[in-house]
Amino acid sequence: MRCALVSSSLDIRGYLGAEIARIADRIEIVDHRHNGSDADINLAIAWHPPADAFERYPNLKAVCSLGAGVDNIVTCPSLRPDIEVVRIVDPVQAQMMSGFVIWHVISHQRRFATYLAQQRDGIWKRLPQRSAQDVPVGILGYGEIGQRVAADLAQLGFPVRAWSRSAKATPGSVRAFHGRSGLAAMLDETEVLVNLLPLTQETQGILDAKLFARMRRGGYLIQVGRGEHLIEEDLLAALDSGQLDGAALDVFTTEPLAPQHPFWHHPKIVVTPHDACEVRVEAVATAVVATADAIQTGRRPPNAIDRQRGY
Ligand code: NDP
Ligand code: OXD
Repeated sequence: MRCALVSSSLDIRGYLGAEIARIADRIEIVDHRHNGSDADINLAIAWHPPADAFERYPNLKAVCSLGAGVDNIVTCPSLRPDIEVVRIVDPVQAQMMSGFVIWHVISHQRRFATYLAQQRDGIWKRLPQRSAQDVPVGILGYGEIGQRVAADLAQLGFPVRAWSRSAKATPGSVRAFHGRSGLAAMLDETEVLVNLLPLTQETQGILDAKLFARMRRGGYLIQVGRGEHLIEEDLLAALDSGQLDGAALDVFTTEPLAPQHPFWHHPKIVVTPHDACEVRVEAVATAVVATADAIQTGRRPPNAIDRQRGY
């Protein structure tokens, strides 16, 4: 089966092709701008596809994302509604994301930024300590990654709350909230807020002044969802007023972050380059092979998203 690689931002054909060949040599990866026939292409792999990308493939049945998020694919104007969109679900990714979130939660709890500043100034001064139990964490999104993050933080002793769209059964160590009223109730008890939502019309701009105002004063934001979840001016205002004590930002509306962007040099912001977790090429290759198998046997591919919901 031929599979088109459609990306305006990543050139991964070499190593992805080699990994796919290792697990299933019946799939041949071709570049989006290949010269051969397009009619026999039923499968594509995409990341930030150009707007007209899918017009070329009249018989396309499924597109695999190169990541857990699919927002850059489902918003592509040429993606027909009947095409399945498959995302990466990888326990190793969830574990890596969890490590990233824990790093920032503990950094806030243990005042790492203040100690770094003290070290720069040669100051030997102990600061009051707070235990994990004193730092409630709220997680926006209790999906594949949110569940792993919640379990790991609870294991470390942090009071954990998690918010999802639908009601969820959670272990006793994680308090579940859902819906708009659930969000307000969770924020009232949140000091550190972790954004692990997919980007959809409903979640765009959710991290705004009203949301920050509901959090415990001196709170902290860990933003690993998508840049478009955040109203940037509202974050800067919340940091300036002291409502938030800091923010760790991994995702941005425009990536790479522009050199003159105020986030770069803000004393209360930590910037990382959309690197909370790199997708493993093995996970992508496994998803591509499973999707190809499903197409060939007329089944729905595993981890295909709900196109109506957008995630
Ligand atoms: P999932 O689809 O497994 O989980 C999404 C969660 O968000 C679900 O609990 C869902 O609720 C909830 N949700 C969606 N819409 C709403 C809404 N309107 N209101 C309340 N809750 C909502 O996604 P993953 O956990 O795999 O990934 C989450 C996101 O993390 C990705 O979409 C991506 O944007 C980001 N990500 C970032 C990475 C990085 O490197 N920075 C790496 C990987 C992912 P319900 O359970 O009810 O459906
Ligand atoms: C993402 C990913 O969706 O890296 O951001 O998987």
